[in-house]
Amino acid sequence: MQESLRLNVNGKATGVEVAPGSRLLDVLRENLGLVGSKEACGRGECGACTVLIDGRPVASCLVMAETVSGAVTTIEGLADEFADLRRAFADNGAFQCGFCTSGQLVRAAALIREEWPDNPDEREAFVRHRMSGNICRCTGYTGIVDAILLTAQARRSSAADRP
Ligand code: FES
Ligand code: FES
Repeated sequence: MQESLRLNVNGKATGVEVAPGSRLLDVLRENLGLVGSKEACGRGECGACTVLIDGRPVASCLVMAETVSGAVTTIEGLADEFADLRRAFADNGAFQCGFCTSGQLVRAAALIREEWPDNPDEREAFVRHRMSGNICRCTGYTGIVDAILLTAQARRSSAADRP
């Protein structure tokens, strides 16, 4: 038996017919064709499936779709706003196999929107702490952290230059 759900995904209200108890990750990938969110551990430990609900990062493998009332944003919905972050990931060697990358980008996007420490010396630790829920088996994290720091810095500089 299927149930009807209304979800707001990437700014669009969407109706889907799903099996009761379906995970948000499966609904996104299988019903809506948004395959940028990946499944690795399937139990909330790796971050590969990270999406935003009302701007907050969540592991979509742990969320039942029928419980979602907020606005869902996937990696596909962040593509335009965070083209600079994707470019920084590429430029800084922040991925190898790429399997974790969409989850890393989604969490990083939420992080870039946050208030950052005023003290520049505290920013790397801030990024490492906030990104600690997203595991990468390939890169050693330095490139990921550098890409986020550089993107945030560039955005801050360009905002400061605006009249
Ligand atoms: S697949 Fe969801 S946290 Fe690993
Ligand atoms: S780039 Fe391979 S797991 Fe992160």
